[in-house]
Parts: sequence; C-alpha cells; structure tokens
Amino acid sequence: MKMCMAANWKMFKTRGEAVQTVKELLKRLDYSPPQDREVLIIPPFTAISTISPLIKDFSGFSLGAQNFYPADQGAYTGEISPNMLLDLDCQYALAGHSERRHIFQESDDLIGAKVKFGLKKGLKMILCIGETLEERKADQIETVLQRQLEKGLQNISEKNIQNNLCIAYEPVWAIGTGEVAGPKDIEEAHAYVRGRLKSVFPQEGDQVRILYGGSVKTDNCSEIIAIDKVNGLLIGGAGLQADSFSQIITAAAS
Ligand code: PGA
Repeated sequence: MKMCMAANWKMFKTRGEAVQTVKELLKRLDYSPPQDREVLIIPPFTAISTISPLIKDFSGFSLGAQNFYPADQGAYTGEISPNMLLDLDCQYALAGHSERRHIFQESDDLIGAKVKFGLKKGLKMILCIGETLEERKADQIETVLQRQLEKGLQNISEKNIQNNLCIAYEPVWAIGTGEVAGPKDIEEAHAYVRGRLKSVFPQEGDQVRILYGGSVKTDNCSEIIAIDKVNGLLIGGAGLQADSFSQIITAAAS
C-alpha cells in the first residue's frame, strides 16, 4: 500500500501562487515522488483546473477537492458537485474535516451522505475524524471516533470502498496549533480505527489507508510515519510551501 502524502491548502493561494508552488514541488521531487508514496494536492476549488494539466503527465501525483455537495446538480447556491470535480480530473475529496464540522456546523449525517455520494460517483473519499480537547480530557476519544466512523460510513457497502476510501485521524486540538499527538496516542487511535474498519468491512477493512493529520512538520514527520499503523499524512500549514512539503514527502521513517 502506497503512503498518501496529502497537502490540504484550505483557503490559501491564488491560481498564480498555486502554479508556482506546484512547479517548484515537481522540480524538487525530480518529477517523481518516491515509489512507495502518492502525493495528493488538495487546493481551493479555483486552482484545481490550473493545477490539473501541470501534474497529469507525471505518475504518483493526484488532485483532491476540499468539499462538495452530495447531489449531481441543482439549486444549491455556492456548492459544487462531484461531477464538476471529476470533470477537472480531480480524483479525491475530503469529507468531515474539523473546520467543516466546527466552523460550518456540518453534521455527522451530512458527512455520511457526502462519503456515500462521492464514492458512488467515483471519487476516492478521505473521511476525517478526530476528538476535541474537551472530549480527550473526558476520556471520550474512542466514543467520538466510533460515532464519526459509524455515521461517516453509514450505508456504505464493502464493494464500494475498494481502494477508494481513506480515513484521516486528526485530533482537533492538534490542527494548526503546533501541538502534535504523541506516537503512543497516534498508534492507539489508529489501531482503534483499524479495528473498527475490519469489523465493519471484513474483506476490505485492512486495505483502507489511515492517515494522521495535525501539525505535521518537517521535524516530526519521520517519527510519525515510522508508526507502522500510519499509512500517510494529511498536512495543512507545512504543505503550503514546496520546500517543506517536498521534505515531508521524501522523509525517511525514523
Ligand atoms: P495543520 O492542518 O497541518 O496545519 O495542523 C492539518 C489539517 O487541517 O488537515
């Protein structure tokens, strides 16, 4: 299974800035990421079509979207559909990122509907889950992860997820704060998620990549990817610059 190194650019970068970053990233990686790694760029919607032609001739690079609405088309002002993303050669999409859950009040049910619809349309879905600091302090990590997984994956059959589903464990208190979960915390959370996945999807549960996200930087990525239950990283701040993102992509586990 290839490790997925994903950069979520959130609401950063104009088209010109995006082009500059991608060109520099390609150059730094010599137009080819390490064999065992997949590089996923998740820009704002406005930069997807600009980046798409820059990476399409190089293997190991993919494009993702940060969000969509679970319908083919319709009167949904301000929204974007999976068809529109597929039309731009976008293969992946996020659902359930903590900023969507907390700033935009997305419910577990809406997130579940997005995962189901995205998979049905042929997008590879990355379902983000993770506990807040209060939930952590109240010893509710597993309860929260269980609920977010159950609701996020409701009504999804095993055959729909083949190579098409990733989970990103992102403790909310670690996102954009500089606080990183310790190796033991990450290992325990990932082991819990893997166990749940295997019980819901006995055939495919082992193949679902589980990424870690939350203040991943050049100086902590080697330690995080050395945890054998970590199958990739979801990177915010450090994924915005070609320099730091390329160092993370090529980092050796240690
Ligand atoms: P961060 O963001 O790396 O800046 O903490 C991670 C994320 O939001 O996915």
